[in-house]
Amino acid sequence: MALVSAKDFLIAARKGGYGVGGFNTNNLEWTKAILKGAEESQAPVLIQTSMGAAKYMGGYKVCYDLVKDLIDSMDITVPIALHLDHGEYEDALKCIEVGYSSVMFDGSALPFDDNIKKAKEIVAAAHAKGASVECEVGSIGGEEDGVIGRGELADINECVEMAKTGIDFLACGIGNIHGIYPANWEGLDFEHLKAIAKAVGPDMPLVLHGGSGIPLDQVQKAISLGVSKINVNTECQQVFAAATRKYIEEGKDLEGKGFDPRKLLAPGTQAVTDLVKARIEWFGSQYKA
Ligand code: 13P
Repeated sequence: MALVSAKDFLIAARKGGYGVGGFNTNNLEWTKAILKGAEESQAPVLIQTSMGAAKYMGGYKVCYDLVKDLIDSMDITVPIALHLDHGEYEDALKCIEVGYSSVMFDGSALPFDDNIKKAKEIVAAAHAKGASVECEVGSIGGEEDGVIGRGELADINECVEMAKTGIDFLACGIGNIHGIYPANWEGLDFEHLKAIAKAVGPDMPLVLHGGSGIPLDQVQKAISLGVSKINVNTECQQVFAAATRKYIEEGKDLEGKGFDPRKLLAPGTQAVTDLVKARIEWFGSQYKA
């Protein structure tokens, strides 16, 4: 199956009351692991590259070719969108040009008028090539904010203005944070989520960033209130690292040819597949392909 825009499957998720995973990849193994998890779950997914991960992997064209060719060689039948995560303006344009089927333009650090203006330009360029667009208003905190008890809450009027630009799905802070949640995290703000969902209407899927570490009940409540895409990165990193650590600590790399990277990286890769499948079940998108 060819890469698809995320628009249709996220609208279906919004209407059907379930969520779709946006899983970040970092290399060949992770890309295969995510595809395998999606196929075994019969779920649509977005495979996302941050700008940094794409650079690490050899550039956007490499990422595009890798995902496209793996879909082919692994006989993947479920809908897969290749998505740029938190892209700057030039990077979003570049990804659209090389064939990404979805991009996030993150202009949240810009003055709001600039964010809106550039969002419209990205929408025009992406839609001309059939790609979907995610934009963000406000900003979603990261590890450096670990001392605060709650992530930012997006301004509701700004959400409405951004929704009018023609974007396909909207990232908005509802107390979520990227990375590991601090012990004093106060949880998601469901009243704020309800207000945003009401203001932007039922045709605008909302995106929950920082999906790692949010308890199941909060994730599912967020989905019931309008979240249709949940981003997961840190948890994949954690399970990959833990499984690799276990392999080495058990001395398996010293047994026979256990040092062969195909063996050394196998437990971590399987752990990513297992996590992807577990999260797809949490989100309710299994058998929704
Ligand atoms: P986590 O790393 O917290 O899962 O967040 C991922 C994310 O939101 C990517 O944009």
